Amino acid sequence: MRIAVIEGDGIGAEVTAEALKVLDATGACADVEYFDFGGERYLRTGETLPDSAVDELRSFDAVLLGAVGHPDVAPGVLERGILLKLRFELDLAVNLRPVKLLDGVTSALAGRTAADIDFVVVRENTEGLYAGAGGAIRVGTPNEIATQTSINTRLAAERCIRYAFDLATESNSSEVMLVHKTNVLADAGGLWQRAFDDVAADYPSIDPSYGHVDAVCLWMVTQPQRFQVLVTDNLFGDIITDLGAAISGGLGYAASGNLNLNGDVPSVYEPVHGSAPDIVGTGRANPVAAILSLWLALRGAGEGGAASRVLAATEQIVAEVGAEIGRGLATSDVGDRIAAAVEAQ
Ligand code: NAI
Ligand code: MG
Repeated sequence: MRIAVIEGDGIGAEVTAEALKVLDATGACADVEYFDFGGERYLRTGETLPDSAVDELRSFDAVLLGAVGHPDVAPGVLERGILLKLRFELDLAVNLRPVKLLDGVTSALAGRTAADIDFVVVRENTEGLYAGAGGAIRVGTPNEIATQTSINTRLAAERCIRYAFDLATESNSSEVMLVHKTNVLADAGGLWQRAFDDVAADYPSIDPSYGHVDAVCLWMVTQPQRFQVLVTDNLFGDIITDLGAAISGGLGYAASGNLNLNGDVPSVYEPVHGSAPDIVGTGRANPVAAILSLWLALRGAGEGGAASRVLAATEQIVAEVGAEIGRGLATSDVGDRIAAAVEAQ
């Protein structure tokens, strides 16, 4: 395997170093190349992610990203210039986010254990309200007007939904739930519902179900055990996955994959958290989200054996020492232990 690494800023480099230790322990990767995009580079050169770099990235099997975000760079510059650019240029159709409470981790929901919280959100990653359609006039005056239009194509909805049903099939899940707000957003919601119904017909052994996004937020708190695979649009997916992170241990545990579904260019895997400038250099950054993102990367790149070993080792170490992560146990200790557990398998 050839892996491209964009460590990015702040704790991005700290947690990525631990994921790479674990990758090394699997023996699955022949070649790791570093790309130094992020806030530091932008401040030095004015460059975010040049087109030539995107072209170079195309030849890798996967991209691991730490986090981008720098206190001296205006909000939005790196998000648009690096994260969104990768999503659009590499056509990263799906944002895959497991919501999985590990043994040894305390949920924000009282009394919940690993058996209660284990589902996956498949979020559309290229359009919806994030497509950038809209505009503002008379800005800064009392007559200011702004529009932000949600773009929904049958193609993007359908490929996401099909991915969700394939994932459910692979993971022996019995249900896929469409999450939307079809009662109010009837046009966009109608497109999603029609695509969902058509795709569901191809998977007779999986139950198609539906939840309004507001009700889904309520159920994620009151009965998270009811979910298996959820599929939804870009904005709803962004919001419900933060709630998902909260109930499964917080940002230190939330992993994600931005998936190209054609397989001809790499997918981009990253922890959900940002560069956390408040804890950089303290050893308190939890590398588990980055290591679980590596798990998704290995699985996505066809290294299923190595992926299973990474997940099993992470579950084992978190069960043993989860309570000490970010307290007595430093970032690099966590990586060392998980890497050792991979080697011991
Ligand atoms: P953040 O995710 O960096 O931090 C939020 C809070 O969670 C902080 O208190 C931080 O210490 C804590 N935290 C985050 N990850 C952690 C980990 N692995 N272990 C322990 N604690 C952790 O979000 P924030 O503070 O809003 O943003 C900081 C910078 O990161 C900004 O520049 C922002 O734009 C950027 N950002 C980048 C993202 C990305 O690269 N995908 C996502 C979110 C924010
Ligand atoms: Mg978010």
